[in-house]
Amino acid sequence: MITASDLSLSATAKDVRKVRCDALVLGVVQGSDGPVLLDSGLSEKSTGALGSTLASLGVSGRADEVHRLPGLSGAEADVIVLTGLGREESATDEETLRRASGAAIRNLHGTESVVIALPAPTVAAVAAIAEGAALGAYVYTENRHATADSLKAPVTNVTVHSPVATDSAVAGVLNRAEILGRAVNATRTLVNRPPSHLYPETFATAAKELSRSLPVKVTVLDEKKLEKDGYGGILGVGKGSSRQPRLVKVEYAPSKSIKKLALVGKGITFDSGGLSLKPPAGMETMKCDMAGAAVVLNALLAIAEMGLPIKVTAWLCIAENMPSGTAQRPSDVITTYGGRTVEVLNTDAEGRLVMADGLVAASEENPDVLLDVATLTGAQMVALGKRTSAVMGDEDIRDAVAAAARRAGELFWTMPIPEELRASLNSQVADIANIGEKMGGMMTAAAFLREFVGESNGRTIPWGHLDIAGPAFNEGAAHGYTPKEGTGVAVRTLVAFAEDLVSNSK
Ligand code: BES
Ligand code: MN
Ligand code: ZN
Repeated sequence: MITASDLSLSATAKDVRKVRCDALVLGVVQGSDGPVLLDSGLSEKSTGALGSTLASLGVSGRADEVHRLPGLSGAEADVIVLTGLGREESATDEETLRRASGAAIRNLHGTESVVIALPAPTVAAVAAIAEGAALGAYVYTENRHATADSLKAPVTNVTVHSPVATDSAVAGVLNRAEILGRAVNATRTLVNRPPSHLYPETFATAAKELSRSLPVKVTVLDEKKLEKDGYGGILGVGKGSSRQPRLVKVEYAPSKSIKKLALVGKGITFDSGGLSLKPPAGMETMKCDMAGAAVVLNALLAIAEMGLPIKVTAWLCIAENMPSGTAQRPSDVITTYGGRTVEVLNTDAEGRLVMADGLVAASEENPDVLLDVATLTGAQMVALGKRTSAVMGDEDIRDAVAAAARRAGELFWTMPIPEELRASLNSQVADIANIGEKMGGMMTAAAFLREFVGESNGRTIPWGHLDIAGPAFNEGAAHGYTPKEGTGVAVRTLVAFAEDLVSNSK
């Protein structure tokens, strides 16, 4: 069971010297002559000594540097927290604020109420600080037993201090930040949940549970129904596992809707590679291979909670990729949903097989836009590293996703799908093979997916493909508002994209 985070966000314009809290967060920047404590509304008398001893305290103001100090006279906080905003020039950028706020809150697990007094002269700045806090207030504790200080609960009450706190738009941005935080954190939890606990059937159950209080409809196609309807991609991948695959369709259809958006997510609950077995090290993080499905589910739920006037359908293509006597073999030919055949030359290129079924199913409903999200290729990381996601597909959609990502504070980079790669997927025995040119393998995978995007009113459906293989799972240290392991990346981009769809069609 995923419990929604209990974080409650508020804003205040009250004299910061009078606000009671467990911890008060102040900003420090890297000035040209050393660290500078930013004005927070506290008096010179209470912060003067602190401001002039920052360097000797070891405070640099660098991003991701968080220090805790005892409270100050003239402030009603038990603890003062200094969070770094980096160089002065970029210290007021929204993403800088989001990260600095997130880093502070992430370092305050075990604390209840926090007031953040970073520079917030605009509603947009309040929004960024609130979002960072909502994303930083996360820990994954299922299956752990509390020991002394290892398991502290995330912060439950955050107040953003700002002169515009009474602006009529503030309640809206705080509510949006809470919704985004819940959606991203629920995605993280699904990704973090081990494959012993999260497998196709339990993933489908979790999708139903998360949807329960919202106006969305969840339909689960089990293995019998998948067989009956010819979902050969999902079934082929799931064949080697004792846990049967699922296709979960989640629908949000508000009475007033101006656009129809379809989302398809890769939901491999564990990717061993199948008979084309991965080496042990390559498997360690493969519980994250269902991140795309978790993302599209939670983005839809956030859109529904926000009540956006667009119809959204999410398709979660869920299977476990295992080797066994019943597993599909390299050189098998499968028939995907809709009838096209695929030669499975490498069972580790399984994501594109389940996505093929999902893309065809989603296309049947004639959406205005079709987006898919997948931890599809190791080549994604080779191309863009661990923190930058890729977006491919039709030029205008691809660019619109990148623009939405920028507004959301996520890093998506546009990549092409070069024409010549398609021929590398030709097969002697089926309509297409599941592997082709290795160089630029991320784009080869996208060329494969493109074959399964359908037509609507005589033209191919506008399509975008998001490969989040690297950024979905943080193997390194936590940073900014990003924890270790599941990151929830792409949820905020999809929500921003949906918001843009609405505002562009008004
Ligand atoms: N799930 C992997 C891709 C992946 C790798 C995601 C590392 C996150 C981190 C995918 O199913 C896969 O195995 N892809 C193969 C494709 C190849 C066989 C053409 C890969 O990238 O090696
Ligand atoms: Mn694989
Ligand atoms: Zn995979």
